[in-house]
Amino acid sequence: MIASDSSKWEQAARRAKELRREIIEHRKRYYVDDDPTISDAEYDLLETELRRIEERYPDLASLDSPTRRVGGEVAEGFDSFRHPTPMLSLDNAYGAEDLLAWHQRLVRTLDQKEPALMVEPKIDGVSIAVHYRDGILERALTRGDGETGEVVTANARTIRSLPLRLLEAVPYIEARGEVFLPRAEFEALNRERARADEPLYANPRNAAAGQIRRLDPRITASRKLDCFFWDLGVFEGTRPSTHRAALAYLRELGLKTNKLNRLCNSVDEVLEAWEDLRERRASLGYEIDGLVVKIDDYALRQFAGATSRAPRWAVALKYPAQQATTRVRRIVVQVGRTGKLTPVAELDPVLLAGTNVSRATLHNEDEVRRRDVRVGDVVLIEKAGEIIPQVVAVLTSERGDDSPPFQMPERCPECRSAAVREEGEVARYCSGAACPAQLRERILHFASRSGMDIQGLGEALVEQLTAAGLVRDIADLYSLTAEKLTELERMGEKSATKLLAQIDDSRPRLLRRLLSALGIRHVGERAARVLAERFGSLDRLSRAGVDELEAVPEIGPKTARAVRLFFDQPVNRRLLDRLVAAGVKPIDEQEPTASPAPHSHFAGKTVVLTGAIPGRAREETKELIQSLGGRVASNVSRRTDLVVAGADPGSKLDRARELGLVVVDAEEFERLVAEARAGRPA
Ligand code: IVH
Repeated sequence: MIASDSSKWEQAARRAKELRREIIEHRKRYYVDDDPTISDAEYDLLETELRRIEERYPDLASLDSPTRRVGGEVAEGFDSFRHPTPMLSLDNAYGAEDLLAWHQRLVRTLDQKEPALMVEPKIDGVSIAVHYRDGILERALTRGDGETGEVVTANARTIRSLPLRLLEAVPYIEARGEVFLPRAEFEALNRERARADEPLYANPRNAAAGQIRRLDPRITASRKLDCFFWDLGVFEGTRPSTHRAALAYLRELGLKTNKLNRLCNSVDEVLEAWEDLRERRASLGYEIDGLVVKIDDYALRQFAGATSRAPRWAVALKYPAQQATTRVRRIVVQVGRTGKLTPVAELDPVLLAGTNVSRATLHNEDEVRRRDVRVGDVVLIEKAGEIIPQVVAVLTSERGDDSPPFQMPERCPECRSAAVREEGEVARYCSGAACPAQLRERILHFASRSGMDIQGLGEALVEQLTAAGLVRDIADLYSLTAEKLTELERMGEKSATKLLAQIDDSRPRLLRRLLSALGIRHVGERAARVLAERFGSLDRLSRAGVDELEAVPEIGPKTARAVRLFFDQPVNRRLLDRLVAAGVKPIDEQEPTASPAPHSHFAGKTVVLTGAIPGRAREETKELIQSLGGRVASNVSRRTDLVVAGADPGSKLDRARELGLVVVDAEEFERLVAEARAGRPA
């Protein structure tokens, strides 16, 4: 008996040690690297298991156990600052039963009937504490390890909804809240990263964590982080007596609080709110992972108290993770435009977070090996944010004996060229210069909306064009003719003419679009814009040295080298020459701050366009104005600085005249453009 008890203890001790090591590792990946490798649910399981062992064998609960920690770790590269009071965590409840248990304990402790409870959406972001002195933003801190946070004031200043000055000059106030990335912004960010061949963020929370902790705030500024406040911290003044009043006060000061917060008088009401919000969750515009339920009355909170980790007066009522199980039918390997091979699991279709899912990315061969995903396996998949579902675990107990491990092919599945994995790379790349899959992806990328925006050029058509040998590279698009096109199946004369017109329209495009469309490694939409603004013309950019490129803000050494390499390759030079010969005409740009001002009539102006400018597509005219520092508005108002009236202007012109605004015709417009470009009167 004794022997078996001690061996159980030994077993538990071993397991606890193992769990601690794993937990510490995953916490670092999550908090410091912003690159978790397991889902939150999987992480919670590890922590719960460790906590259970420590409850059962209290002598195993060492003081440095990760279960005693409050938050993450403080990363290097930031100053740190001690929180005036620790930023605690929350205990989780996973449904009605857990919530009732929490509530009963609370009612017992308080010796009270039912305390009023504030119920708030639990924003899936990163917590932040902001300190204001005399109403001015003094610092912003991440949670860090709960005791000490990282000073991220410069980044926080870029959050538009965060006031730099409060509406009242309160001597000293701390507010705590959640910084998050709205879903639309998250998707845009990942699209950009995918194009620049950078790893995707798994979900909006990781993206927000990554953005708020960028060392270069200029990058944060480009992203629209947002923030909701959920707590009044230290406050020099008379403290309100309820949380509800405190939130109202924060709002009065100009700090944003969530409009969906509501007061509930019973657990039933809380559960109703939980259901209510579950239905609205998908349409919220930001991610939530449950509700936070808190006692409203501060005096009662005091009474309920807290452990060193979490308050007893609050609980997080979480929604089940967006996960489902299904079976892997096949593992296919896709070839991207850079030749990168990506293994993808084709699944038995399953409903997940409202959509039918039949594919999940497996990222790369290391990832497949790590998870050991095999054909026929039952897998747990998760929709992290709105992006492609991921396989989070394999239910190996369901696996038959005869399933072989997946082998990444050593040849490109499309062109059979060697698929090579370079040292230090996680991916294999197809080495075939003429790989049809790469070609198709390159053309699709070239024609995409953020590239040259050739609308009629979809997947099916690109497949036809390349298979028929009509398009062997992107420059061939511009030598297509109606005769050639009508030879294709399902291509009538009308569609051919339309496509040709769309291709033709794409000849004049802003330099940034062409750069992004070319698919230069590491050059996504953002880098393309920065480069276009800095160098102005294709010619100047193509002559820039690595040092010169690297000196451009936001352009790192990898991108600088990739750009240089691109222009150094004779094939690429030939391709550019052919594009230019085919009439592709990148519109030169100017640095927005580098003095288009003296002679740009557009700099800082609000411009309205009406009617057509001969020889320019509408979109092009708009982009041109923007590149010269102007803002294009769609309607005429008193705030309009300039109206450009081309051929057949609409009623906007009448309205402009009524308001006595400055109106220029197409000819005058071209003169102003030439002037702005030359930086002097034309
Ligand atoms: S109250 C004592 N309210 O959830 C801790 N937290 O899992 C008080 N969170 O660290 C937290 N929305 O970062 C609170 N409306 C909300 C919240 C919220 C999101 C986060 C917060 C906290 C984490 C705990």
